[in-house]
Amino acid sequence: MKGITIVQQVATLRLRSDETVAPVSRRLFGTFVEHMGRSVYTGIHEPEHPTADAAGFRRDVGALVRELGATCVRYPGGNFVSGYRWEDGVGPVENRPVRVDAAWRSLESNAVGLHEFTGWATEMGLEVMMAVNLGTRGAAEAAELLEYCNLDEPTARVAERRRNGADAAFGFDVWCLGNEMDGEWQIGHKTADEYGRLAAETARLMRFIDPGVELVAAGSSSAEMATFGEWERTVLRHTGDLVDHISLHAYYEELDDVSDFLASSARLDRFIDEVAMIVAGVEQELGLTKHIGISVDEWNVWNTTRFNQVDKEPLLTGPWRFHPRIIEDEYTVTDAVVVGSLLNSLLRHADRVSIANQAQLVNVIAPIRSEPGGAAWRQTIFYPFAITAAHAHGSVLTVGVEAATLTTPTYGDVLQLDATATFDDDRIEVFVVNRSQTDAVDVALDTDGFVVESATTLTAPDDGDRRTTNTADAQPVAPRALAVEPGSATVQLPPLSWNHLRLVRAIEAGARTETQEENA
Ligand code: AHR
Repeated sequence: MKGITIVQQVATLRLRSDETVAPVSRRLFGTFVEHMGRSVYTGIHEPEHPTADAAGFRRDVGALVRELGATCVRYPGGNFVSGYRWEDGVGPVENRPVRVDAAWRSLESNAVGLHEFTGWATEMGLEVMMAVNLGTRGAAEAAELLEYCNLDEPTARVAERRRNGADAAFGFDVWCLGNEMDGEWQIGHKTADEYGRLAAETARLMRFIDPGVELVAAGSSSAEMATFGEWERTVLRHTGDLVDHISLHAYYEELDDVSDFLASSARLDRFIDEVAMIVAGVEQELGLTKHIGISVDEWNVWNTTRFNQVDKEPLLTGPWRFHPRIIEDEYTVTDAVVVGSLLNSLLRHADRVSIANQAQLVNVIAPIRSEPGGAAWRQTIFYPFAITAAHAHGSVLTVGVEAATLTTPTYGDVLQLDATATFDDDRIEVFVVNRSQTDAVDVALDTDGFVVESATTLTAPDDGDRRTTNTADAQPVAPRALAVEPGSATVQLPPLSWNHLRLVRAIEAGARTETQEENA
């Protein structure tokens, strides 16, 4: 690699197949589709596209969504939901009104609504996690939406759903009570008390309609909110006995110091731990016997500084447009490595994090990009998500990491390696990031009888440029196999890399090697 002096470091990962944190919830691999920018229109849906299906959804994008392997999808927002009237998106498409979306200064055609989206999500194998508007609306409208979606009784709303083509109830299990209500940018922004009361009132009514739903109270929009902590305590005092999860949103970006950025998962670890402590405190105070899960229902790398300083002003003062390009971040190798470490953090907290949704799915800060009438492609961040979602099954294991420490300006000392692992079907899957920008590392795997079967890395291409991105024309960033000695318990990880190692029992690997030798 040009311009990089590679120094060799050594590290150890200690793994025991019976030392577990918690089962892997498949809901940790959620995604998010908001009516925003080109996420829906010219993202997943584009009737004029050559690959469009009969319902107008792009098959090329759909193939990538399936390959990504997400399990559930939060919908329809985000900030958008706080001004949304769900009724505008049902009934004959030709009768649907065009509305302003004040959250993103956009025009909403309502060509895609509840039925179209649910049909698409079902085809993609995604569980829909529905969000209700608690910005401009309240308990009554949320309850009517729930009735429309989940009931089968002879009511006017259910008859309307049937007339609109869905005889069977959608049966959505998880419902978000509003979005980021702590943020002054949110339509209908509220104090913690105001939101807590409204969320409790809405939750109570929704439970009367369908007692089986799982409800998510809106927590803090980031760990840096001045109200963080007090917001959660107040909201949970109102809603603790009525909700099943409380959300947190976490976005990270590269600012002045890349070592800080590469330590983002340490920040997410702390954020989750802090929310978990607050939740435990309120559970005790209210005498709850159940545990409230943490729904990390928006997380990702997002260059918010560029959005706030460059893109926001023209968007907010420019003309109203249908699906304008908003926050179409182009992701680098470094971004992908950080996304991999954020997934590690979510898995490490599998005992507390019940749901997690990468924000978002297509075009808007997304692993998948598409051009109107043109190509669809995988961004760099696609790979750690797809590979982790495909291989993390069974139980999360405790990982003991011994590695060099790196000093970061904001987060102090962090370990050079960020690792997590899962165990299922007698396989250990290890997901490990080398945060060093310059040093490769020889990792010794201290296990109860496992050796490396295969290893995959995502790192800079051969020119060593960590800022490399994938575009419509060229996608130079993709995972590649790492050389491993058959039966070995060590592996060398390149600098600034995200890696997936598959470990099998030494005895099994030995038998396989013998058979291969015999066949040769
Ligand atoms: O995901 C983009 C936006 O980020 C969402 O609309 C909002 O909830 C968050 O601030």
